[in-house]
Amino acid sequence: MRVKLGFIGLGGRGAAYGMTDGSIGLLGNVLNNAKNAVVTAICDKFPERIDAAAKKIVDNGDPMPFTTTDYTELMKADIDAIIISTSWDMHVKVALEGMRAGIPVAMEVGGTHFIDDCWKLVDCYEETGTPIFFMENCCFNKDETLVTSLVRNGVLGEIAYCQGYYAHDLREEIAGGIDTHHYRLKEYMENNCENYPTHQLGPISKILNITSGNRFVKLVSMATKAIGMKHFVQNNPKYKDRLGDVEWKQGDVVTTMIECENGETIFLKLDTTLPRLYERCVTVNGTKGFYNQTTQAVILDKDNIDHEHAQYKDFFFTQDKYKDYLPDDWRTITEEQIKSGHGGMDYIMLKHFIECIKDKKPMPIDVYDAVTWMSVTALSAKSIQNGSVPVECPDFTRGKYKTRKTVDVLDFPAVKD
Ligand SMILES: NC(=O)c1ccc[n+]([C@@H]2O[C@H](COP(=O)([O-])OP(=O)(O)OC[C@H]3O[C@@H](n4cnc5c(N)ncnc54)[C@H](O)[C@@H]3O)[C@@H](O)[C@H]2O)c1
Repeated sequence: MRVKLGFIGLGGRGAAYGMTDGSIGLLGNVLNNAKNAVVTAICDKFPERIDAAAKKIVDNGDPMPFTTTDYTELMKADIDAIIISTSWDMHVKVALEGMRAGIPVAMEVGGTHFIDDCWKLVDCYEETGTPIFFMENCCFNKDETLVTSLVRNGVLGEIAYCQGYYAHDLREEIAGGIDTHHYRLKEYMENNCENYPTHQLGPISKILNITSGNRFVKLVSMATKAIGMKHFVQNNPKYKDRLGDVEWKQGDVVTTMIECENGETIFLKLDTTLPRLYERCVTVNGTKGFYNQTTQAVILDKDNIDHEHAQYKDFFFTQDKYKDYLPDDWRTITEEQIKSGHGGMDYIMLKHFIECIKDKKPMPIDVYDAVTWMSVTALSAKSIQNGSVPVECPDFTRGKYKTRKTVDVLDFPAVKD
């Protein structure tokens, strides 16, 4: 049996619409790799995006899908699950509709401005029992699964601190929204918050057992002034006349500190409107060692480091020595699958989502994980608006986190030291 998928949102991420960097999007990934899935229904607000996606499906040898510009119509089509890759403002609305119709949903990442929306998702899940999967692909990435496995195997000892960035120069994507309708343009004009917390916070939360034995207690956020976009558009003839007078609200760098109930702290950085290289910089500090994604370094106390004289560059890429800790998915991945989106993590994530639907298995990133991570956007906005005051983090599990078992996204090997 092939799992029948309905796609809502056929832009860059959904269907690589308008992408010129070789991306294939979620649709291309399913068409290329998921032999056990077929796309039977597609939806976007823009008919030309529907036509482009339909052509890809038919060119792949699959039947013409049901098409619509109204996502509520897609819910009535012949589908087993929905993939939501719309703008952030539609995620919860569409997910609620799908869950109420009894159709499992996979929802793309992004934060939410509304704590109320988080509760609506939790309540809807608890009332309907319809599965919801949060598509945080970085939880499935090689580096993040390696460091999670090191933690699960006790290599880094007891963890005190984690750090991660979403550092990605998005100035062109944001300003370009004036032509492409990309939602980030409006978001950066109207809001000031940690707007994209989950690429780093997802894997870190799994490491720290958030929603299963641990929880976020409070956070504090600070935002810099907003100067990056103004400088960019005023110095770019493509945008100067149309966007030169905009008063951007989104601070260029937003830093957030989260305190966890079990005593750890988390440092997050959003850095998307100044020149820089892409970086997630997941960093984990424990009693026995340290991991840093940017330098790919694993530094262990037992290695008798000369702390006074050793240099970071001596440890670049030392994570390569820990291949035994990688989950099976990363040991067996093919070159083709690696090329199919974000270095292979999209392939692995979709494979597991489709298996969960097919075999009716619990989602490895569920509603409680999703809303706990997404809510950081609303909470950070509140902290910033009130002068960087501490803001309490709701317990969306209503106490269940105390007894919930951690569900890892992949099976980690137990490695003998
Ligand atoms: N996980 C990742 O690595 C990754 C990467 C990029 C984007 N994303 C996520 O994917 C999502 C989409 O991002 P994007 O860059 O593709 O944006 P986009 O603007 O290119 O695409 C969004 C699409 O959703 C459609 N849409 C919006 N509202 C709709 C509605 N009511 N009905 C039907 N269609 C609607 C838009 O017309 C558009 O085509 C976002 O949530 C983003 O955070 C994730």
